[in-house]
Amino acid sequence: MAIIRYAQHGGSTRDVSLTEGSNLMDLARVNAVPGIDGDCGGSCACGTCHVIVDAAWAARLAPPNAEEDRMLSMIVDRQPTSRLACQIVATAALDGLRVQVPEHQF
Ligand code: FES
Repeated sequence: MAIIRYAQHGGSTRDVSLTEGSNLMDLARVNAVPGIDGDCGGSCACGTCHVIVDAAWAARLAPPNAEEDRMLSMIVDRQPTSRLACQIVATAALDGLRVQVPEHQF
């Protein structure tokens, strides 16, 4: 079973079964992962799905496109590996991907 691991503030983690073709925001919402609201429904317009990708995984993802980068630039606690979960499409190749949900989103 392929999984995405969502690290929560405080150190706990939530492992969610990966569904091919779904994005990481939808996976989080369907599985009630705290801290990922996805207010805009995945249209890259709210930033409430901000996650920080584990450094070991960051280079394995396609970089953010201009629209995602523009939205990320409005996030005050943006980190070098920050991404919008709604823009990361789950594939089997991402089995074990770990993302941190930022503290302020709880
Ligand atoms: S759900 Fe709004 S930017 Fe990702």
